Amino acid sequence: MHWGLLIDWAELLVRWTHIVAGIAWIGSSFYFIALDASLLPHPRLDKRVKGEAWQVHGGGFYQMQKYTVAPDYLPDHLTWFKWEAYTTWIFGFILLVSVYYVNASVYLVDKSVAGLTPLAASGVGIATLAAGWLVYDRLCKSWIGQNTLRLAVVGFVLLVAATYGYLHVFSGRGAFIHVGALVGSIMVGNVFFIIIPNQKIVVKDLLAGRVPDPALGAQAKQRSLHNNYLTLPVVFVMLSNHYAFTYATKYAWLVLAAVFISTFLVRHWFNLGHAGQKPSWLLWPAAAVPMLAAAGLTILGQPASVALSGSVKFAGVQQIVATRCVTCHAPRPTFEGIEEAPKGIMFDTPARILAQSALIYQQAAVTRIMPLNNATEITEEERQMISQWYQSGASGQ
Ligand code: HEC
Repeated sequence: MHWGLLIDWAELLVRWTHIVAGIAWIGSSFYFIALDASLLPHPRLDKRVKGEAWQVHGGGFYQMQKYTVAPDYLPDHLTWFKWEAYTTWIFGFILLVSVYYVNASVYLVDKSVAGLTPLAASGVGIATLAAGWLVYDRLCKSWIGQNTLRLAVVGFVLLVAATYGYLHVFSGRGAFIHVGALVGSIMVGNVFFIIIPNQKIVVKDLLAGRVPDPALGAQAKQRSLHNNYLTLPVVFVMLSNHYAFTYATKYAWLVLAAVFISTFLVRHWFNLGHAGQKPSWLLWPAAAVPMLAAAGLTILGQPASVALSGSVKFAGVQQIVATRCVTCHAPRPTFEGIEEAPKGIMFDTPARILAQSALIYQQAAVTRIMPLNNATEITEEERQMISQWYQSGASGQ
């Protein structure tokens, strides 16, 4: 019985919930930013209404109006948008712990980067997530935060510095996921600590007929604008975990910095459009340049190929796989922290190696994801040997 599959199922369901909640959160956030930007005033509207927007969806018409002052009547049931954000974070955090902290020696620690113990690595992870929020929040409330451009520049520099720092303590993959978790936590922190509490005070004031402090609304708006610009980069970082070429390069921090710039520009184009301004099409090539630079950096950052003497025999490949892969990919793995053959993939017999030659080539020579975090210290020459063997027909001779 493969009871271990139940754990994989649990992980799949947690991941699924995290993504579904994230879709709901980002969807409502994009929707309201666009709705707010498209509101138009009209003389026939109630004086307290800032503007209205007409929309058609699902075969009916919606007339959306925004009251900036309390209307005469408010139903008992008012819809708040917060659980999408909280659920995304809660399930994301469970994933972070179950994948990266429970198996820190496999996923988070890369001994060639820093010799942290699994416990220390997890501690650094959690502490930096908390510190990231505190620094960001202080920054927004300081004089730097009073000017959007100044804040954006300082925030960007700090984000790139955090990426650089993470890449010097964790595995590439662990570093990228922490950048994503850091930004995601800041976004949820904005909802939990600032936007919702401020909104609660404003609603209370409006219902009591008091004029709410405009600073509360301004602060909530600033934070929700930050969240809006951070969505595209954060989704990219989450996906990059499945594309090792993004982080398995010595320029990984520059790759992410370039991606941040590109995705900010894409978001900016949409925001200008929603606000009814005709955004310049030049923003698209402007966004393409840093994205192409990111792709170029991943190519430049590949290690130089080494020259091999003579042709590669199967016995040589078998030897490499036995020492570099089979500690994990066997019916009974011997690598600490690996209980079962990962994803059921095993290379313990010649037949299994031959049958999965394409997978081995792909993972060890092309994407270079395997050996995971190079835990078994495969050499450049060995990768090259696998590559040459595969390209010359992957024979069993
Ligand atoms: C330290 C343990 C470890 C070592 C050593 C290791 N792997 Fe893996 N491998 C894993 C884990 C864990 C996964 C599951 C990947 C994941 O969860 O992202 C995996 C997944 C794979 C996959 C499936 C990838 C996919 O996404 O479908 C292949 C193929 C693979 N490894 C090949 C290799 C090869 C080839 C080597 C040797 C060059 C190797 N592995 C060495 C731990 C290891």
